[in-house]
Amino acid sequence: MASESPPIAPSSSPLQRKTSQAVKYPPVPSVCIVTGGTGFVGSRLVEMLVERGAQKVVSFDVVPPPEDAWRHPNIEWRVGDITDKKAVDELLSIPNIGCVWHNAAAVGPYHPRDLYFKVNYEGTLNVIESAKKHGIQKIVFSSSPSTRFTGEDVDGLTEEQMPKLPLEKYMQTYAETKALGEMAMTSACTNEFMTVAVAPHQVYGPRDNLFLPNLLEAALNGKLRIFGPGYNRICFTHVDNYCHGLILAERALYPNSPALGKFYIVTDGTTHPEGNQYLVFWKVLDEAVVGMGAKSLWSKAHLPKGLLLFVAAICDLFGKLLGITTKLNTFSVIVLTMHRWFDIAAAEKDLAFKPIIGFREGWDETIVWFRENWLPNQQRGNGWLGIAKSTQKKIDIQDQSVKKAA
Ligand SMILES: NC(=O)c1ccc[n+]([C@@H]2O[C@H](COP(=O)([O-])OP(=O)(O)OC[C@H]3O[C@@H](n4cnc5c(N)ncnc54)[C@H](O)[C@@H]3O)[C@@H](O)[C@H]2O)c1
Repeated sequence: MASESPPIAPSSSPLQRKTSQAVKYPPVPSVCIVTGGTGFVGSRLVEMLVERGAQKVVSFDVVPPPEDAWRHPNIEWRVGDITDKKAVDELLSIPNIGCVWHNAAAVGPYHPRDLYFKVNYEGTLNVIESAKKHGIQKIVFSSSPSTRFTGEDVDGLTEEQMPKLPLEKYMQTYAETKALGEMAMTSACTNEFMTVAVAPHQVYGPRDNLFLPNLLEAALNGKLRIFGPGYNRICFTHVDNYCHGLILAERALYPNSPALGKFYIVTDGTTHPEGNQYLVFWKVLDEAVVGMGAKSLWSKAHLPKGLLLFVAAICDLFGKLLGITTKLNTFSVIVLTMHRWFDIAAAEKDLAFKPIIGFREGWDETIVWFRENWLPNQQRGNGWLGIAKSTQKKIDIQDQSVKKAA
């Protein structure tokens, strides 16, 4: 009898489809939990777990699944709030959970300060407490390299060469609260309750709702200019590469594994275009800008970093008074001008990670995807003051739910 071919998520891009079918990937647990499962990363993780053979994947997210979410019998789309202890406890009482991928987070710089603590720290404590109570043995935590950023360049460092947590001062509340969540995971880790933190850097790909839409919207409104000279080196992670790293991390959780309690970064690695593990940020972003039919950023005057920092300081003050975060702020100026790329040798060694989608094909397809799917619905935004409307809609649901729970 011919063996049944594995299911493929219907909203996969052609490249995602091809990559999912290209190789026989290692098995995944039969029962999987993905918090933040309707997010950019979480939704792809849910799909890839099913594509790799999971029998039951429960997504838990405060934002309901979109209309085009994959309605597969192996997927349960559960709407719930990670800050609600009871809901988390119900979720983790599902029998035979093989692993929890804890992705849910208040992401980006646009939420109120206390929400980051509630979701990224207290929500993580709820997951740890409940997982322990129900005898779950494995948690893979989505972390962020920004937990280790001090404003200094990160020019090809390994995880070991980066500052150790806790930092004396964090650049944003997001980074601070992700660090608190990660430290709670690390200190809970034992041979019986095994945790690992895996971080991407600058995730991109089809269905991205935060990074590219906001920059492209500013570019199409004629508001985006290159910050500084424009040659800062950074690295990217295709969403499928990140999910692959998260899935492999589960396999690295076994007693006495070198991965226990550790922090790993996964990126597009040596497939980056500059011959090493990085790209030149403004060159690559410009490809997307031009791909949307806008004028090349390189044909316009650059904005000097000193001037940007001065204006950003005014925006920070203005934002504080109005209780909003403007797109142009001190943090955004620093991250858009600094080097930030990593040597991912540790993930290659301990997690057996290798990108499954190369940067060139992944980025080219992302540009096509945005041109076909995002550009036709693009709405005029608020330039540097506000954020893309689609991003705002989602943020509002997250913020309101946690306010209600409080
Ligand atoms: N996208 C990146 O470049 C990037 C970089 C570093 C780290 N990460 C990490 O990856 C993970 C996924 O990020 P993403 O890019 O998919 O962001 P995302 O915002 O698309 O996904 C996060 C999800 O968490 C959900 N969530 C927020 N508050 C919640 C709550 N109270 N209860 C339940 N669910 C809640 C959101 O609704 C959202 O769907 C996050 O943990 C993030 O910190 C992402």
